[in-house]
Amino acid sequence: MSILFKSSALHLLALGIVFVFAVPSTKRASCTISSYDTDVSDCSLVTISAFTVPDGEVIDWTFADGAEVTMAGNITFEQTSADGPLATFDGDGIIFKGAGYTLDGNGADYWDGEGTNGGVAKPHPFLKITGSGTYTDFTVLNTPAQAVSVGGEGLTLDAITVDNSAGDEDSLGHNTDGFDVSASSITIKNCIVKNQDDCIAINSGSSITFENNQCSGGHGMFVGSIQSGKIVSNVTFSGNEVSNSMYGIRIKVESDADDGASVSGITYSGNTVTGIDKYGVLISQSYPDDFSTPGTGSTISDINFTGEETSVEVTGSSGERLAIDCGNCSGDWDFSELTITGGSAGTMDVDDASISGGSY
Ligand SMILES: *[C@@H]1O[C@H](CO)[C@@H](O)[C@H](O)[C@H]1NC(C)=O
Ligand SMILES: *[C@@H]1O[C@H](CO)[C@@H](O)[C@H](O)[C@H]1NC(C)=O
Ligand SMILES: *[C@@H]1O[C@H](CO)[C@@H](O)[C@H](O)[C@H]1NC(C)=O
Ligand SMILES: *[C@@H]1O[C@H](CO)[C@@H](O)[C@H](O)[C@H]1NC(C)=O
Repeated sequence: MSILFKSSALHLLALGIVFVFAVPSTKRASCTISSYDTDVSDCSLVTISAFTVPDGEVIDWTFADGAEVTMAGNITFEQTSADGPLATFDGDGIIFKGAGYTLDGNGADYWDGEGTNGGVAKPHPFLKITGSGTYTDFTVLNTPAQAVSVGGEGLTLDAITVDNSAGDEDSLGHNTDGFDVSASSITIKNCIVKNQDDCIAINSGSSITFENNQCSGGHGMFVGSIQSGKIVSNVTFSGNEVSNSMYGIRIKVESDADDGASVSGITYSGNTVTGIDKYGVLISQSYPDDFSTPGTGSTISDINFTGEETSVEVTGSSGERLAIDCGNCSGDWDFSELTITGGSAGTMDVDDASISGGSY
């Protein structure tokens, strides 16, 4: 193509025609941005200065392939009538360095204890990260409802804090999920989530690693809820600490899910779970109920607690250690590195699965 271009250019020059080449603009080396509506698509180096996103507006940035993006100030959101996501970060091979800065959703302006089930309209999710690359070292503070939605393929989220702990006051924060994942080939590690709902909820995807994270105040580590046609496979939860939460570890499929809905290849290793009120570990095909009449149109298989010990401590007096409510589960499940203490024993309906090892 370039040879053709040169020869035709030479040809035109030989004809003595004078003209101006429309040279495509090369990527600007660096851009410093301080507004939600700056076009970042041509910037290979982006520095984000502090700014406020006004009512009714959202951030929707698709960075250039391989862009290096560095925060140099906080991004604060005014109370808004906009729908979520209030910020979207997209692009391939992005290196995003939060440098310890904060995206502040001013959740207290919305919190009324009802989450996304009613009351004040709450834009959600607050932040959506999709595409691929590495996002590190920032805080997502006080989100109206669900905090971070994760999509794409090939993302690593490292050392991100989701802090909705202010929503504990008078139980006003609700549905403040930390990470909602529908993505493949992703790793979430070294993150801290303080909230009132799922620390992580994996809705679909494969090759997902959740490791060395700390979760408190919420609903623990969750695969689900799985809807019709959704598949979750090959997930590892390792080295995480979950404390003071309603559930420790859960897998839940909607009771009416079918059309190939399945959960398989979930491995837990070296997790420490303490202060659980309701269920230490719950595996159920009865969602929205924890335990009732499980559906049979989906499948759960290949669930293991192996590698390093995963310990779970139930403290609620009515809490149950391990409950399984299967309509269609199968295969050999190795629970040899699972230890659960406290509470009472749960009910186990494992259908065709065969569970070996463990203490619960
Ligand atoms: C950024 O926000 C955090 C959290 O609110 C705050 O502690 C910090 O002082 C802010 N930094 C600046 C430079 O405003
Ligand atoms: C399972 O996921 C890991 C990373 O999480 C990946 O390295 C591995 O290739 C995946 N295995 C399969 C069979 O997809
Ligand atoms: C889970 O354990 C079973 C039984 O030992 C084994 O066949 C299976 O490969 C294991 N699955 C994973 C994902 O390690
Ligand atoms: C369990 O799911 C499999 C795969 O979808 C299906 O073939 C089978 O009929 C289901 N079992 C029951 C009892 O419905």
